[in-house]
Amino acid sequence: MNHNQSETILITGASRGIGKATAELLAEQGYKIIAAARSELQLNALCQSLRSAGFDASYRLLDMSQTDSIEGCIASLENEKIKIDHLVLNAGYSSGEPALELDEAKRRHEFDVNYHGPIQLIKGLLPILQKNSGFSITVVSSVSAKIPFPGNSNYAASKAAFLHALRSIKIEERNLSKHLRLVIPGLTKTSMSEEFQAPWLPASSPDTIAQAIYSCIRWNNRVAIPGLHNRALLALDRLSPTIIDTLVALMSRKPVESDLAQSDSEQSLPRRILRFRFGS
Ligand SMILES: NC(=O)c1ccc[n+]([C@@H]2O[C@H](COP(=O)([O-])OP(=O)(O)OC[C@H]3O[C@@H](n4cnc5c(N)ncnc54)[C@H](OP(=O)(O)O)[C@@H]3O)[C@@H](O)[C@H]2O)c1
Repeated sequence: MNHNQSETILITGASRGIGKATAELLAEQGYKIIAAARSELQLNALCQSLRSAGFDASYRLLDMSQTDSIEGCIASLENEKIKIDHLVLNAGYSSGEPALELDEAKRRHEFDVNYHGPIQLIKGLLPILQKNSGFSITVVSSVSAKIPFPGNSNYAASKAAFLHALRSIKIEERNLSKHLRLVIPGLTKTSMSEEFQAPWLPASSPDTIAQAIYSCIRWNNRVAIPGLHNRALLALDRLSPTIIDTLVALMSRKPVESDLAQSDSEQSLPRRILRFRFGS
């Protein structure tokens, strides 16, 4: 019998990408899975495949941008007396647009999913989680919460807002601090990053991030930053934010017409690097 067989994990954003990979890995490790998201078809397919492999899995419909949906999900878990030992806050939305070009509704939606929703869910689920003294809350943040992300500034700000709030919450709620875990992925190959053009930047697989999430839950790792290049970027940012800002600005600079007129072989390496940019 697996040591985790009696522990239940609620994973938000489990219908695809990192959340789905995490649900599959944690189910294999013996945890009972509650997969949450909006897409019922995908959640149902995931749970059916996990159950047919002999694992324990169920799903909840949850819209992280809707207060009522979050309240309803928490109430149903309470009413059914479901115990939750671990929460993985993974659901996220990325508009892929600069803050100043986003319309009001999208700008607010991004903060609802990436900031307000997670805060509401932590607050509402705490009484359930605290029934197990060994509970954990793992937050899937982003390297872009720490360094600039031109072309996706509102997304980066919403991830940074949540990360920054957690720093204060850890001090406000001292009893909560030791239960919080943080995973900081960089570019990861999922539908979220499909439009992102940066061939020079290594991308992780969702399975790699799922392993990092597992290490936080199983081995109590407080922070996991998958990928040496991501750890190097964040270390350099701590050392000198100016260097990082300059580097990112260079990498995201749009090509000028004279660059485009020349063939690849005619262009110097720095010029070819500058041709890669964020977004379309
Ligand atoms: N991909 C990357 O390069 C990357 C890098 C750093 C950090 N991250 C972070 O990793 C996490 C997972 O992203 P991913 O790459 O796996 O993206 P993804 O493939 O687009 O998956 C996003 C997940 O979030 C759910 N979601 C989106 N809006 C939601 C809402 N309003 N309510 C509830 N669930 C919602 C989606 O489910 P439904 O649509 O079914 O609701 C889906 O399951 C996010 O927090 C993201 O910020 C991603």
